[in-house]
Amino acid sequence: MARNGKLSTDPYKGVRDFYPKEQALQQHLFSIMRQVAQSAGYEEYSASLLEPAELYRAKGSENEEIATQQTYTFLDRGDREVTLRPEMTPTVARMVAARRRDLSFPLRWYSIPNVFRYERPQRGRVREHWQLNIDLFGSEHIAADAEIILLAHTLMRAFGATENDFEIRISSRGFLNGLITQHSLSEESTKKLHGLLDRHGKVSSQEEEASLKEIGISPQEFVASVAPKDVVELLTTLKELGCSNARFEPYIVRGFDYYTGLVFEVYDTHPDNNRSLFGGGRYDNLMELFGEETMPAVGFGMGDVTIRDFLEVRSLTPSYTSPIKVYLAVTGEDMVTEAMKIASRLRAQGISAAVDLGDKKLGEQIKSADKKGIPHLIVIGRNEIDSGMVAIRTLATGEEEKIALTSLPSFLKSF
Ligand code: HAM
Repeated sequence: MARNGKLSTDPYKGVRDFYPKEQALQQHLFSIMRQVAQSAGYEEYSASLLEPAELYRAKGSENEEIATQQTYTFLDRGDREVTLRPEMTPTVARMVAARRRDLSFPLRWYSIPNVFRYERPQRGRVREHWQLNIDLFGSEHIAADAEIILLAHTLMRAFGATENDFEIRISSRGFLNGLITQHSLSEESTKKLHGLLDRHGKVSSQEEEASLKEIGISPQEFVASVAPKDVVELLTTLKELGCSNARFEPYIVRGFDYYTGLVFEVYDTHPDNNRSLFGGGRYDNLMELFGEETMPAVGFGMGDVTIRDFLEVRSLTPSYTSPIKVYLAVTGEDMVTEAMKIASRLRAQGISAAVDLGDKKLGEQIKSADKKGIPHLIVIGRNEIDSGMVAIRTLATGEEEKIALTSLPSFLKSF
């Protein structure tokens, strides 16, 4: 990172710094995620980002590409192989398996962890992202699948999207497994088929057709396929629940080996951002990894990067507002303590206030408050303290109003 003997100010490749405005947007996304998850009865959990590397190599949890090429894995000082989690599902399965006897089911859990994947950074792909994980454990019922997809739908609506802005594409591993059995595909051909379907839309249709034929499947089997029974039932339930932008899409497979039933992806319909935003599915066998009996589970992971892109192309991101409601400028350094006393009284009333430290000219103090996007400003000088009256300025308009210091809290609360 050193250039001319100096350190670069760039962050590590593929990860992001969050300056206050970006962090505010990040918190906005998280607060919508939390609100939607909690209002549906999901409890928040968390875990360390360090996991033993074997968690991602075990049969059943593996996603070959992720386990072999995309993890950050290193040896710790005690020669243990450690991985920065590339996803949350193995972790949450581990946590549930560990306390299975104490927990009560159905279990509804959510988390917003940062996860790490050594990928080539590009639009929508970075090396560290935050991912809302919503998972429901302990129910095989199709109502559980419907609840999870409905939550994905509710989240998109809570972000300000209309049903035309996105589409939920659903398939089921049952459908795919049916094809695999019907054609007696070998393990190798099955892997090829998964990989091919996962790249659908990213390779030309000629190339896709050729590869399908090589595996021994005719492209018509996809184009003409009718929705399997479980997907039809799901779509009907979803419609009844007010979600009408979901449809069967045979090409949806999702990369992980652990999915056993329903799989889905939410797609952006905007021509400038026509891509998968997030996805998930049913994984009923992951608990076996820990020597436990199987336990049905269904959930999804929604990344912050793809959602930001979605919101940005539609101008759905909120404009930044400063966390400071009022700035206390001072006529000189001797007024700082007085201003701090007033600020303390305001804060005690729940109003965020910041005080200038008095080392700049008044004009510069006002300019700097304006640049920070602070809505209100008062100037504290000897006159204001003696008279108990201040002029409160609305920085966006330059309007001023004279009020008594004692009525400052109620005045500011009215905004
Ligand atoms: P995934 O599809 O690998 O699934 O990731 C879920 C979402 O995380 C993606 O759809 C995308 O929004 C985001 N994402 C993944 N990789 C990156 C990246 N390199 N940069 C930016 N965003 C990314 C899973 O991880 C499953 N564990 C989800 C799940 C939970 N299934 C059931 N429960």
